[in-house]
Amino acid sequence: MSSARYAVSQKIDAGGMAEIWMGRARTNDGFVRPVAIKRILPHLVNDEHFARLFLDEARITLKLSHGNLVQTLDVGSAAGVHYLVMEWVDGLNLRSFLRQVGPGLALGPATYIARQVLEGLAYAHDATDLEGEPLQIVHRDISPPNVLLSRHGEVKVADFGLARARGRISRTRPGIIQGKYAYMCPELVAGEPVDRRADLFAVGILLWEMLAGARLFRADSDAATLDRVRACEVPPLPAMVPPVVAAVVMRALARDPDARYPTARALHDALTDALPLDAVRFTGFDLADLVAEVMPDAPPDVIAPPLFVDVPTALVAQLGRVAPHADLLDALTAGIERLEAQAGIDDERRSGSDRRKRRRAPGGRRHTDRSVFVDRVLVLLDAGMGNAEVAEHLNAEGLTTRTNTPWTAKAIAQLARRARQRRRASGDEDASSVL
Ligand SMILES: Nc1ncnc2c1ncn2[C@@H]1O[C@H](COP(=O)(O)OP(=O)(O)O)[C@@H](O)[C@H]1O
Ligand SMILES: [Mg+2]
Repeated sequence: MSSARYAVSQKIDAGGMAEIWMGRARTNDGFVRPVAIKRILPHLVNDEHFARLFLDEARITLKLSHGNLVQTLDVGSAAGVHYLVMEWVDGLNLRSFLRQVGPGLALGPATYIARQVLEGLAYAHDATDLEGEPLQIVHRDISPPNVLLSRHGEVKVADFGLARARGRISRTRPGIIQGKYAYMCPELVAGEPVDRRADLFAVGILLWEMLAGARLFRADSDAATLDRVRACEVPPLPAMVPPVVAAVVMRALARDPDARYPTARALHDALTDALPLDAVRFTGFDLADLVAEVMPDAPPDVIAPPLFVDVPTALVAQLGRVAPHADLLDALTAGIERLEAQAGIDDERRSGSDRRKRRRAPGGRRHTDRSVFVDRVLVLLDAGMGNAEVAEHLNAEGLTTRTNTPWTAKAIAQLARRARQRRRASGDEDASSVL
């Protein structure tokens, strides 16, 4: 059996701790659904602290299921690297959205997004384990990149990477404040214990920033940002914001946690009560229209399923730790070297000026070409393509050799045959079914 359960196609984002890949999950019967796969950044893989934080994120989010939270579906590991499988949210994060729509959102969309985030948070804050014991979750990193907006007008909170919960094994490192300074509350910056009201303060910042079209606490340096959070001075909102709504935002941003709303639901309801009718009537349909304005059509990947590369292959290729496909990679690399040596000989026969020209030509990216090429061949072979088809793809994508000779099915066949022989010889036929 060599059916990988998950496959990744392209990297979507890389943050401070992890990278997110677009992917597909496949059932035994061959049904597929889009997923997002999150894995620790390669340079942090061997850091036990981050590995534990990551597994804690999985542990916490696997217990949660709510329309306003990104659903975690599974957690696994391949080649010693943990990864988290989530539902794929076809859309963009709030930071990109705000950048694209320009400064200042109208009351309707701004408060709709905030109220949806609050519904997700209310659920997470009150979530219990299977025995009914409260998990006491605090997200602690509510910020625009961690709020996702879908093409269908959904709002989903992502990234419980720094969340606190009862039973969480890993604590963030003492003395080190993790998260985004500009979305922290004064008590968090002071190193005091925080509860759910830290998340509500962050929603207050989101609201303020969406309505004002400006950043509330962010300054030129981290130190200056932290100073502003400590001072917690909140400038008034623009005049278009009704005073009753502004009062709700200001109370959410109170310096003293006791002066804020006690729960996500309390803030949600206060906001709803303060809104004029046209703003309350803003719905997911309207948000979908706004997202459609800033997002181009569905990415090609969503329309046509991507070429599969199973998760281990991708991880392994990234890490340079060539486990399952070691011999295939070897054979391909050796094959390419031979072909390039041949091309080099041909090159020598050309005139000097021609060679100089060639060196400057875009086709001269020899070394990057090689690794890109090898990766690509693996993807294509994994997708079950025949040699001619592989060659066609490589040529169409411009992944030719230094001499820009088109790849032929024969060359690919040679490379693949050698690779397969070596794999068979090492009895490693099933190595790719790590998952
Ligand atoms: N399930 C998902 N579907 C689509 N995009 C996602 C998903 N999860 C994350 N992303 C994208 O990747 C970015 C980083 O994800 P996140 O979980 O916040 O990682 P990090 O811990 O590195 O901040 C998000 O801002 C979003 O743009
Ligand atoms: Mg994040």
